[in-house]
Amino acid sequence: MRKSPSLRIYLRMVQPLLDTREVQSMGQWNHHFGVTTYEHSLFVSYVAFRLARRLGLDPYAAARAGLLHDLYLYSPYRKDAHPGNQCFYHPIAALENAKALVPDLTEEEQNSILSHMWPLAYHAPRCSLAVVVGLADKLCAMLEICKIYHLMRVRDVMPASSYVVVE
Ligand SMILES: [Fe+2]
Ligand SMILES: [Fe+2]
Repeated sequence: MRKSPSLRIYLRMVQPLLDTREVQSMGQWNHHFGVTTYEHSLFVSYVAFRLARRLGLDPYAAARAGLLHDLYLYSPYRKDAHPGNQCFYHPIAALENAKALVPDLTEEEQNSILSHMWPLAYHAPRCSLAVVVGLADKLCAMLEICKIYHLMRVRDVMPASSYVVVE
């Protein structure tokens, strides 16, 4: 992956969020097969940003919702870190944390975070933005699980987290 003009615009747009301790801290947990929650969220955010631009939607909202959609802030491998099923619970925790971090989060951004696991989880997308973020999440997850993420060399162009992976 090369540092295209789109990527430069995107990174300038999300820099204030990337600088927060909450977003950085996602770098300590593995999410999909050697890809941290931080790396996954950044990847989803950038893909959602590109899709939103292509479709005439708000790219800033797509970038923010993508970056915050998995902001659950605990190890997904620790059963005692969350009540119930991780698939159903983590979007709720992510939304709570996202609202605390970004008080002006719009209804559409909130729905995008809450519904990103649909149709596996209960909350359905209610706007185009949420559909785009949900699609970006599934596409990126597939690329990560199939190890195509590594072949794309996404890490070469995206800023690394300041946290060290613990789990
Ligand atoms: Fe998720
Ligand atoms: Fe995700």
